[in-house]
Amino acid sequence: AEPAAVVTGPGGRMSESIVFPYGDPAFVADPYPFYRELREGGPVRRVVTVRGLEAWLVTRYDDAREALTDPRLSNDLRLATDPRLLEQLPAAERDAALRSMIRLDPPDHTRLRRLVSQAFTARRVAELEPRVQEITDRLLDAIAPAGRADLIEDFALPLPVTVISELLGVPPADRDGFQEWTNVMLTQHPDRPDLAAMDRAWRRMWAYLEGLLAAKRTDPDDDLLGALITATDQEQRLDEGELVAMAFLLLVAGYVTTVNLIGNGIAALLAHPDQLKLLRDDPGLLPGAVEEFLRWDGPVDPGVLRVAAEDLEIGGVRVPRGATVIVATAIADRDPGEFPDADRLDVTRPAGAHLAFGHGAHYCLGAPLARLEGRIAIGTALRRLDDLALAVPYAELSRQAGGLRGPHHLPVTFTAA
Ligand code: HEM
Repeated sequence: AEPAAVVTGPGGRMSESIVFPYGDPAFVADPYPFYRELREGGPVRRVVTVRGLEAWLVTRYDDAREALTDPRLSNDLRLATDPRLLEQLPAAERDAALRSMIRLDPPDHTRLRRLVSQAFTARRVAELEPRVQEITDRLLDAIAPAGRADLIEDFALPLPVTVISELLGVPPADRDGFQEWTNVMLTQHPDRPDLAAMDRAWRRMWAYLEGLLAAKRTDPDDDLLGALITATDQEQRLDEGELVAMAFLLLVAGYVTTVNLIGNGIAALLAHPDQLKLLRDDPGLLPGAVEEFLRWDGPVDPGVLRVAAEDLEIGGVRVPRGATVIVATAIADRDPGEFPDADRLDVTRPAGAHLAFGHGAHYCLGAPLARLEGRIAIGTALRRLDDLALAVPYAELSRQAGGLRGPHHLPVTFTAA
């Protein structure tokens, strides 16, 4: 049975909501049985997720996909009736975060996205392949002799951090700092976040980026942040606050999820030796396997946040104006109506229609880059590390849950190929 709670909703109305059991280790290890119950119970469920947030959860594939192109569902959290949606953000984040494109609707969203979309096209990203391969090989060179490693700390984390830093023009010496602040912001317990610590980390990150952008302004560089500074100063296509918010979004979105793609993907393979063998025998399956890892255990969990800008219906359920809506991509991607035998990991299945990168206007800007990094990281690790095995059971991996999903650590043993 699902745990229920009586929750005071917007306007003091009492309602029955299903509480996500983040305190239950079995749920954190494998939330998908709970998700299946939610999906089978109805197309839209009233739930309480991270930080006590009450929301309407969209559980099914067709509804989720449609919701993500519905202009009545806004990315602007200020439209929410429930003040807790904004209050659950650290104070400093409230003003600043709302200026990044991921929290804006057209026309501001369109204007800001256009400024950076050229840097992330499939063609531009393909040019990065040799460098991504080089960074991957260097990281594996460092761990290969030991025969054991933490594939998050030593591999899945530093790879995307290095790639996005180089693309943006963030100095290598600054990486420890921003990784630490991001960690504080992202690794809070879903039910007991330390909002003061998050606030401090957020302010430090913001101040750091302001300083970095100021330094680049006096000493311009040929990188993405340099191009955005030019767009601010000379063409006035974004203002000062939007510039910092953009740098913040690109830097953080540019690596945190990719770590989880690589971590979840390798963990899934090590828990499914038959799938690992298929992939080792035929590396041509790799691009499709990356799609399947995204579908089967995606980094974004349970999904993406919207607010109903007007009354609407989703899957026949009435959702009132001002409602907080979570389009549960991670639940929809296990919908057997779209993916037959959806709970089965199958690296040969055509999984490309998954919603792990979202859909519609906010579809992940970095998807081509994430796919490239996922393919090279997982492919190269399989090629270079023989007898790869988890050093702790899959179900006992310490995992991040609530917002993002992935192992904190991935201890493995292997022999260098
Ligand atoms: C948006 C997932 C990697 C940059 C999104 C969204 C999702 C997502 C679900 C849509 C959010 C929404 O609709 O509200 C992922 C996953 C990744 C990944 C699963 C890795 C496997 C990256 C990378 C970048 C990036 C490498 C590099 C810069 C962005 C940006 C947006 C976005 C800027 C906002 C786009 C917009 O609002 O128009 N991502 N992402 N992501 N992602 Fe990613």
